[in-house]
Amino acid sequence: MEDFVTVSVKNTAPYDVLIRSDFSSLSERMSALFDEKCRLCIIADKNVSKLYGEDVISEFKKIYENVDMIELELGEANKSLDTVSKCYSYMLEKKYSRKDAVVALGGGICGDLAGFVSATYMRGIGFVQIPTTLLSMVDSSSGGKTGVNFDDYKNMVGAFKMPALVYINTTVLNSLPDREYASGMAEVLKSGLIKDGLFYEWLINNFTQINERDTEYVSEMLYKCINIKRLYVEKDPYEKNERAILNFGHTIGHALEKYTDFEYSHGECVALGSVAAAYISFKKEYLSAEEYYEIRDMFVSFELPISLENIDIDKVVEYTRSDKKNSSGNLRFILLKKIGKGIISEDVTEDDIREAVRQINFDPND
Ligand code: GLY
Repeated sequence: MEDFVTVSVKNTAPYDVLIRSDFSSLSERMSALFDEKCRLCIIADKNVSKLYGEDVISEFKKIYENVDMIELELGEANKSLDTVSKCYSYMLEKKYSRKDAVVALGGGICGDLAGFVSATYMRGIGFVQIPTTLLSMVDSSSGGKTGVNFDDYKNMVGAFKMPALVYINTTVLNSLPDREYASGMAEVLKSGLIKDGLFYEWLINNFTQINERDTEYVSEMLYKCINIKRLYVEKDPYEKNERAILNFGHTIGHALEKYTDFEYSHGECVALGSVAAAYISFKKEYLSAEEYYEIRDMFVSFELPISLENIDIDKVVEYTRSDKKNSSGNLRFILLKKIGKGIISEDVTEDDIREAVRQINFDPND
């Protein structure tokens, strides 16, 4: 297995996603991309910079004289234009120019926000991702989607900005809380379900090693997921069509995030949304009942929820309405034609969604 994946999007510079077990090649890789006079502004999640900020800065200092770090308390509530504006002010004050670069050090929220800063500050400056959660390693750090929330809508304002480099140090996963690790597993399982049935089976067969974060298994898993993501990003970088398949489980997932006021994490809601989407795939006779139940139970093996208590079903259905609609007013919904093959469906109705949400509703009085 290789320890990198190269993503080549037409009309943009190809970039590597490196899978390493320390930060020791960071400065060397950076120096091939950014001149030593370049200034680096690390935008970091405070929880992460406490643990790894010094390591990353001392790596950069081997090459670069000017390294700054903005440390932010990050959550969905301050993934906002206000926080972006604070970063602009800091960088303006320090006289950052277009020749300089932003480095994201943290999970998905940090990467999306820092990416948006880099895409818009002076119409765009260099961008590097150092993802530190499983979710950001397998999904959000590669592919160029950046953005922030606006007016209660998730990722409503954003831009596409491909990074120059994504540097993964797998050992940082050892400090990740169990719940966050499990959350990342939802995107991993999604990757197998939509694109690679053998990988899906491999995940089921090796859930013990994966849950124990065995380095060898985790590295292989990252490589597989990033490669699956690469296929979609290279084919449809700006999500005109097929890239939407990566959003399997996300229509109902996003609605549940909003419904639970983000008390349930993105990955937990994607797991619930995936169970619901698998149910619709079964109702449309793409999956057998056994396959649906196998998918549902697989999330349990990876410590993810498959039901929520007393869901207000109408409210969740209402929240799914902000997702993209087709000309006949139905949602573009991602289903499984079979395990390992995601498809975009335009004939999923609100009634289908209502029935699927009922499947993940747990009524203690029933
Ligand atoms: N997270 C899905 C995508 O990047 O398209």
